[in-house]
Amino acid sequence: MAIEQTLSIIKPDATGRNLAGQICSMLEGAGLRIVAQKRVRLTRDQAKAFYAVHAGRPFYEELCEFMASGPVVVQVLEGTDAISRNRAVMGATNPAEAEAGTIRKAYGLSIGENSVHGSDGQETAREEIGFFFSQLELVG
Ligand code: CMP
Repeated sequence: MAIEQTLSIIKPDATGRNLAGQICSMLEGAGLRIVAQKRVRLTRDQAKAFYAVHAGRPFYEELCEFMASGPVVVQVLEGTDAISRNRAVMGATNPAEAEAGTIRKAYGLSIGENSVHGSDGQETAREEIGFFFSQLELVG
């Protein structure tokens, strides 16, 4: 058990339905602390850079288009085992397969419009946090 930080994104399908507050509440209820947060509108190129690891996959263009289609809320979450804790409360990538009580089960619309993103490992978390935040913005 270790105190970790992870990157979370509340996606355009959720901000568009005014669900950011309810999703923050579920994250906090899962024991995660929001130590940095901002609402931004990504350009398509910024979305492509963030998801570069998926470049070439069949859903890449659509994913980047969607992520630039409206505002997102980017967050750094901190807590014990924050990376896996966040992934547990997010639920499966495909909302149809997500367990009851998870964010994607409650709010996800489809595998693409699945309301939230979370880092999948320690190295990814470091890179993804650095993509959006400077050390000065991690305020606790
Ligand atoms: P996310 O955790 O943000 O990471 C990559 C995203 O690609 C994923 O959530 C999904 O929203 C999106 N995506 C769209 N189609 C697919 C697919 N067929 N398989 C996996 N991810 C997909």
